[in-house]
Amino acid sequence: MGVFSDESVLSPEFLPEDLPGRDAELHAIADALRPALTGRRPVPLFIYGKTGTGKTSSVKNVIREFKEHADAVMLYVNCWQNYTRQSVLSELSTALGEPLPRRGLASDEIFSRIIEAVRQKHAVPILVLDEADRLFVGGEERILYDLTRATENYGVSFGIVCISNDFAAFSRLDDRIRSAFLGGKIEFKPYTPIELREILQQRARKAFQHNACPAEVIGMCAAHASKKGGDARVAIEALWLAGRNAEKRDASSITANDVKIALKSEHVEQAQGVSEGEAKVIVALKAAGGSLTSGELYKHFSGASARSVRNYVQSLEAKRMITIKEIALKQGRSRVIELR
Ligand SMILES: Nc1ncnc2c1ncn2[C@@H]1O[C@H](COP(=O)(O)OP(=O)(O)OP(=O)(O)O)[C@@H](O)[C@H]1O
Ligand SMILES: [Mg+2]
Repeated sequence: MGVFSDESVLSPEFLPEDLPGRDAELHAIADALRPALTGRRPVPLFIYGKTGTGKTSSVKNVIREFKEHADAVMLYVNCWQNYTRQSVLSELSTALGEPLPRRGLASDEIFSRIIEAVRQKHAVPILVLDEADRLFVGGEERILYDLTRATENYGVSFGIVCISNDFAAFSRLDDRIRSAFLGGKIEFKPYTPIELREILQQRARKAFQHNACPAEVIGMCAAHASKKGGDARVAIEALWLAGRNAEKRDASSITANDVKIALKSEHVEQAQGVSEGEAKVIVALKAAGGSLTSGELYKHFSGASARSVRNYVQSLEAKRMITIKEIALKQGRSRVIELR
């Protein structure tokens, strides 16, 4: 029994084939990037909008479709993981089939190798920089200048897509960088209740057994997410938790009460506030007097992957509940996380 037929459809990693409500944005992204497939220069894109509005999924969907038809180099980088010009360039170099020597190279040297590789391939690689504002925090935005000016400076082109939920950070960038994105800004608006309902309907068809998820349940989750800012992630999480509640009762379909309990549970209650993992970060910070280095913070999370801890921190930063500062240490740099 149970209500789920494929619970993974409701997991954060799931990338749906269709994205209801995002036709215009998907077309705009594809149109801007398509020239890359025939060796021409794409329009640099800056994609922005609130959390859970489908930015990452939309870009990934376009890239996935392009990959089916062309074998151009397309690289997705999360700048939370690669937050320096050097590390992004290293990733790009590797994606171009130019792995770097162990001893390491200076950024400018890596960049020269990239230019040379692209020239030889006569290709136009596409680079997606998700959470691009992480680069700006550390003053690493020069890579945007390098890549958007490569056509005039070196005669080779790149497709560049920056994704961010911090438009203000973009506005503060140097004119010479911002001007490259003038023709390619795409805003992702919060989803309307009707769009949220469509998104949930599509997921529910795949995630639940036939007749296990009545329309009323979808409507409640959509209404909730709409109140919380039109965030699809909140909507999907609410639906997933409601499904879990029905399973706990050993029922064959979800009821309005399962949703009510889900929305009351701490987890979703705080989706506008914080998830469980994020709450743990806050508790650790409070216990430490308000600030911790990232290394110290990881120690509070034995068992969790560094990646998920980073995700919590990132999400709290997006919600403006903490700040992250880069500090120079004797060797390398570290990040200090502080409660706001
Ligand atoms: N139009 C849509 N159709 C179906 N699912 C969607 C749609 N938009 C978003 N989602 C789902 O909602 C969740 C959040 O979407 P996504 O990660 O793309 O948002 P985002 O704008 O990149 O958010 P953030 O700014 O927090 O990174 C994902 O699970 C995604 O699959
Ligand atoms: Mg995203």
